[in-house]
Amino acid sequence: RGARATEQDLAGRHVVISAGGTREPLDPVRYLGNRSSGKQGYALARTAVARGARVTLVAGNTELPDPAGVDVIPVGTAHRLREEMVKAAADADAVVMAAAVADFRPAVYASGKIKKVEGQDPEPIALVRNPDILAELSAERAHPGQLVVGFAAETDDVLANGRAKLARKGCDLLVVNEVGEHKAFGSAENEAVILAADGTETPVPYGPKETLADTVWDLVAPRLAETRR
Ligand code: CTP
Ligand code: CA
Repeated sequence: RGARATEQDLAGRHVVISAGGTREPLDPVRYLGNRSSGKQGYALARTAVARGARVTLVAGNTELPDPAGVDVIPVGTAHRLREEMVKAAADADAVVMAAAVADFRPAVYASGKIKKVEGQDPEPIALVRNPDILAELSAERAHPGQLVVGFAAETDDVLANGRAKLARKGCDLLVVNEVGEHKAFGSAENEAVILAADGTETPVPYGPKETLADTVWDLVAPRLAETRR
């Protein structure tokens, strides 16, 4: 990482990264959540700082130490994550959605703890869609030169699903992980292919999340080069 870090190719840039996962409350003690640890988003934040960027990290329910020199904004729900990302994106050069955002949230929040009733089956939990933050950030960019990066975890037809998702979201880069036993969620290691809207594909071999993070910035930095600092 040393050689890349000394490049300072993100100097003068503001990058905004989401990390972790959202939790959608059902009642005061329960939520709908996911297994995202936030490690990939934090690796993106650390490597961006090393390359000279000003970094805002919107962190969903992570238990990781704040990276040095990073503005960390903790959030719980998809709604809060969206709010903070849209706000921080206003003056960002690049926006990276590494967080696992819940696609659905419980339709109703019970202000009191849901109790079981003797002899009765539980009520089904109705869900509603959450906003698609990546699609919104891609469609409503704060300025035309702003770069938007998404992540996708797929279990099957990884490349075909990734290409379709890149087009659907309208982002510039999509980091596609194959989810498996020792990959992605919770792990310190990752393997991915980074798909670009311009058609290029960059495979990233199995290795530390820091390496994947640096490869993301390797692709972001030259794409920012044409825009004004
Ligand atoms: N994402 C988002 N808002 C959502 C859901 C996802 O911003 N409500 C972002 C994630 O942060 C990620 C990208 O979209 O960068 C892809 O997430 P993924 O769950 O793979 O995509 P979905 O469109 O939700 O498709 P799927 O049905 O496969 O879950
Ligand atoms: Ca999803």
